[in-house]
Parts: sequence; structure tokens; C-alpha cells
Amino acid sequence: MSDIQQRLTELRDQINYHLYRYHTLDDPIISDAEYDQLINELRDLEAQYPDLVTPDSPTQRVGAQPLEGFEKVIHPIPMTSLGNAFDDADMRNWLARVGRLLPAGMTVKDLEFVVEPKIDGLAIALTYENGRLVQGATRGNGVEGENVTANVRTVKNVPLRIPATPDGPPAPAKIEVRGEIYMRIADFNRFNQQQLEKGEKVFANPRNAAAGSLRMLDSKITAQRPLALYSYAVGYVEGVKIGSQKEALDYLRTLGFPVNPDILTTHDFEEVLNFIHTWMERRDTLPYDADGAVVKISDFALQQELGVVGNAPRWAIAYKFPAREATTKLLEIRTNVGRTGQITPYAVLEPVNIGGVIVRQATLHNFDDLAKKDIRAGDTVVVKRAGDVIPQVVKAIEDLRPPDSQPYRPPTHCPVCGEPTARLGEDVALFCINAACPAQLIRQIEYFVSRGAMDIEGFGIKIGEQLAAQGLLKDIADIYFLTRDQLLALEGFAAKKADNLLAAIEASKQQPYERFLTALGIRYVGGVVARLVAEAFPLIEALQQASQADLETVEGIGPRIAESIVEWFSRPANQALIEKFRRAGVTLQVQRSTFNVQHSTFNGLTFVITGTLPTWSREEAKAFIEQHGGKVADSVSKKTDYVVVGEKAGSKLSKAQSLGIAILDEAGLKQLAESAT
Ligand code: IVH
Repeated sequence: MSDIQQRLTELRDQINYHLYRYHTLDDPIISDAEYDQLINELRDLEAQYPDLVTPDSPTQRVGAQPLEGFEKVIHPIPMTSLGNAFDDADMRNWLARVGRLLPAGMTVKDLEFVVEPKIDGLAIALTYENGRLVQGATRGNGVEGENVTANVRTVKNVPLRIPATPDGPPAPAKIEVRGEIYMRIADFNRFNQQQLEKGEKVFANPRNAAAGSLRMLDSKITAQRPLALYSYAVGYVEGVKIGSQKEALDYLRTLGFPVNPDILTTHDFEEVLNFIHTWMERRDTLPYDADGAVVKISDFALQQELGVVGNAPRWAIAYKFPAREATTKLLEIRTNVGRTGQITPYAVLEPVNIGGVIVRQATLHNFDDLAKKDIRAGDTVVVKRAGDVIPQVVKAIEDLRPPDSQPYRPPTHCPVCGEPTARLGEDVALFCINAACPAQLIRQIEYFVSRGAMDIEGFGIKIGEQLAAQGLLKDIADIYFLTRDQLLALEGFAAKKADNLLAAIEASKQQPYERFLTALGIRYVGGVVARLVAEAFPLIEALQQASQADLETVEGIGPRIAESIVEWFSRPANQALIEKFRRAGVTLQVQRSTFNVQHSTFNGLTFVITGTLPTWSREEAKAFIEQHGGKVADSVSKKTDYVVVGEKAGSKLSKAQSLGIAILDEAGLKQLAESAT
């Protein structure tokens, strides 16, 4: 029996350690298969000796019997909330108040601050006795919370035993650890999508999903939800002296608790503010939702001295980021017709202020999504606006739905040309398949002349609409047959404007062939793909004759892209279009010099471009790097070799600095190219 007991302990220790490596350090040291072998052995043994199953066994992370309700738990030390600041002035006022309450002889210059991200989840208090997790409790009203022990046991990075690492300090007799249970954004999106597909409840945001999941009476369901913990405080501990917040975080880390790596400790209050500003800018690139930053005065003796007012300690404050979500009324569902004829729904909203921006419209993605979420005109909806992303309708609040509301029905006819709509293949999207639909033409023109395509300066969408309405543009190639007289006859066109536009159109005939390929607006053929295609098929005649198999031999072109290209060139209307471009004198082949530059100087190097460069546009810098054989990535990581920075470089620059990546300006980039040749 004792052999069995010993093997069980050994297996549990090993498995707990590997779970810690995987979920807390994000750095596993065994394969999934090896892990499975260990956990299977443990399961088999426990099945044979059910009496020897312990609550801290990793097999118990799958959940327990459903509960009738949650027991109440009185917090031995209340879980307070935090005062809020909304700008730097609020922060300075807070510091000034603190300054007035400091002991004689001390000033704010003597303070040490700890700045932590304020993750938007649910506060939790975890109690461990002799190294074993014995209780998990929600914050509740701060004095009394709910016992959710069975549920927290299923959260993958919550240690069931501490220390969770072999070199950690011995477990204290008793400790209460506080932190936040949350859901990462990627996990939340995946989870919500699954819910949608199963026809089950979707959540408005990761916070609600985390809160809902942690408060399930059936912990087996919680076990299926991708929850995680970040710990940020020690409520109390027996027999261990901790003097400050900084020490508390270090102690938690050595015990094997997950602690957010993005925490700043400093004596400099200006650095506190700068750090928070950088955070606010980086917000959209974080893997989790943070609704602010918490600034804490580190020293525990001072915390004691400063005390609590009402429900909030004086020694800490939350700097709240601008809101990103609001509820408002959806007035009407309308549709747009895109360049490829795709029809997409959007919502017209009762204007609402989200984090300082008035939002009047929001995307509804596609008709499938809209149907699954059952969003209707008249609904009160949750609208989300994150960074540069187009505002989106997340969900409808069904309880507030007017009794006479009707489910939305997708259009059977194109809202612009009135022809019947269709679904193409397996695509969930709805299309107007009338090639002569004016909405499509206008979108095509808009794209053709845009900066990433033929870059015809002065050719705005208004002009495109005017010309199409006059019947002067029936397809995109007509742009090259416009006359001075035709332009002068348009409203708002004087001689100078007409001449400038004609000159810009003329100049665009010399745009590189790959830009022309991009400008055609073939599905899936953006700048990057167009370049690959141009290199492999330097003459348009060759491309026109290429089969799907020919195209697929090109590195970087898969069946989906190949099919789309072949399909596009097979249409007689498009063949006629190419003929028209040829007559107009547009460049339809690679000008050799474009590709003649030294190819290999930047071979194997990855660059990230950020900020505004003095003379080059981002596209130009990118083309330069690629022409020299380098790669350009969107975000900075350990794999980045150089970051090219211009004015107003933001979080990418700070990330590069923190990773110790080489930084160049535009001149430095040119030099590097020369020195490498
Ligand atoms: S400290 C007195 N630190 O914010 C200290 N709270 O209003 C009280 N929160 O729901 C909490 N991240 O769960 C603290 N790094 C952090 C936090 C944090 C998120 C939440 C906490 C509570 C609310 C406090």
C-alpha cells in the first residue's frame, strides 16, 4: 500500500509541476503525449484505489458534483474596492492627498510605487492550509462572498498545492492569496464562437464570461471554460514576514502563483504616469482586457498608516482607461454593397459616447452572425469599440426587447441595383452578382485609385461617384479614357483641377505591374500576393493563361488564391477589361529594374516599421526591405531583428527597447542596405 501511496504522491507532484510549467510559465518541458501518459497512470491508479483520491489531485480539476447553491463565506479581512482616477490630474491629486498624510519627515519623493494592470475579471480569495488549497471565495460585497472552491480547483493555473515549484519556499501554515480570475481575449472569442454555434448564450465581454463561468453550480461546466488566474496580493500569511507589495509579488511568484509580468516598481511618479500611458496605447495588443492600472504604495507599514476611507484604501488608486463598451438602441439595420458584390449588414444606432467618441453606426459582420445572435431593430444592444477597430454590435439584450419586434430578414434583392441576391458556394456571405451594379463599380473605383493600389492622387470617392452617375465610368478601365472636357463639365471642376487629375491618371500608367494586379481587386490578391504573382508571371499574358496548378506551384499561393485568380481571368468581361487597360497604355508587365536590386542583403532578417518616417511612406519602406530580401512583420517579437522607427513611434518602440532589439531610423536602414552589399 505504501508503494502505491508513494507513486500517487510522485505522480501528483510531477503533474502539478508540469501544469505549472505549462499554464503559469508558458514553458512546458515535456510533450503533450508524455503528459497524457502521466495523467493516465494517475487516473488508473486512483480508479483502483478510490479511497486514496485527494482533493488536490490534478485529476480533480475536471469538476465535482453540482451544488444546490453557494455557501456564504465571511472574509477574515474585507476585500475592499479601489478609488478611481480618470486622468493625470486625478492622479496628482491623489498623490498630493497621500503627501499630506505621510509621517513627519517623509515626502512623496520617498515613496515606492507598484503599478499593476487592472485586469477585467472577477476578484478571488484563495486560502491554503499547509500548502493545500482549501477554499476559493468570490469578493461578493467585500465582507461576505461565495464559496466557489470546487470551481476554482478547475482553473488550470490555480495551484492546488504550494509551493508549485520545486525550488519554492516551504508552504506557510496558512495563507490567503488574492487575485483576478479572467479569460484571455483569444480564449473568449473562441469560446463565444462555440457558444454561438451551439446556439447557447454568448457573453458581451471576457469579464462577463469569466464571472458567469466561475459562478456555475456545476463545476464540470466551469472546468470546460478557459479561465485563468493572476494573483496580485497576499490577504494574510502566517509565519512569514512580508514588508511591501513588491515583496508580496515576489513571494507569490516563488510559491508558483501566476503574477502578471507587466508590473512596474519605481520611486518616480512621472515614470508611473508614463508607464500607464504606454499601457493605454498598448491596450489593444494585450492578450487580456485591462480596464485600467492599479497604483499601490508598496510599503505595508505606510499602507497601514494611510488606512482606508469608506470602502477604498488611501494607499492605492485605479487609473481607469476610457470605456470601450456601451449599450444603446439599435434604430435600424441597413446594408452595404462592397467591391466584390458582397452585401454586409450594419446597425444604425442611437448616438452613444464610448470612451469619448460618439458612435452612430456599428458593423453586424455578416447575415449568419446576425441571425445566430438574433439582433433586431428596436433592440437595446451592447456596442464595443476597441482601438482602431470598427465599432461592432456584440449582442442584443433580450430582456429589453420591445414586444412587437420582428426577427431581421436578409435582403432578397440588392439594395442598390435591385437584382436578386445570391449565396456563392460555401461562403456564408450574401452577394449581389450583377456585374453592372453601380455600388460595386464605385467600390472598385475607390479601391483601384487608392494609395495601396494605383495611387491616383486627387481621385476621391466623390469624384468616382460623380463620374459613375454621369455614365462616364462603366468600368475601372474607363478611368484612362476620361477627357478634359468631360471633367470640366462636372460640378466643382475648374481647369486646374481637371488637368491635375488627368496628369495623375497619366502618371499611374507607370505604376509597377504588381500594383496594377493589386488594383484589379481580385479576391484574396492584396499587395503581398500580387508581388508573388508578378515575380512568377512577369507578363500578364502568362498570368492570363496560367492554370490553377501553375499558380499553386508558386510559394505562398494556395488553392484558394489560385482558384480565385483563375476564375477572375476566365470571365470574358474581365478579359475585355485587361484589353482596355492595354490599349490605354497601362504597365502590364514587370519593368526589369524593379527586381534587379540586390536581392539577398537582408536575407533572413525580419523588420518592423513604426511611426512616420521622414521621406518614405510605410509602403515604400516595406518595398525597400523586401527588395533587399528582408521580411516585414506587423508586431515586435523576439524574432524581430530590426525596428525601423519614425516620428510618434509608440508601443512597438518601447517593446523593442524592452526586448533589446536593434533600432534604426530611415537613414540607418539605407545605410544598412549599403553596408551589407
Ligand atoms: S488591489 C485595495 N490589484 O479591481 C486593493 N485589484 O476595485 C484592492 N483588480 O474587483 C484590490 N486587478 O479584483 C487590485 N492588480 C490589481 C487588480 C485589482 C484587478 C480588481 C479587483 C477588484 C477591483 C478593485
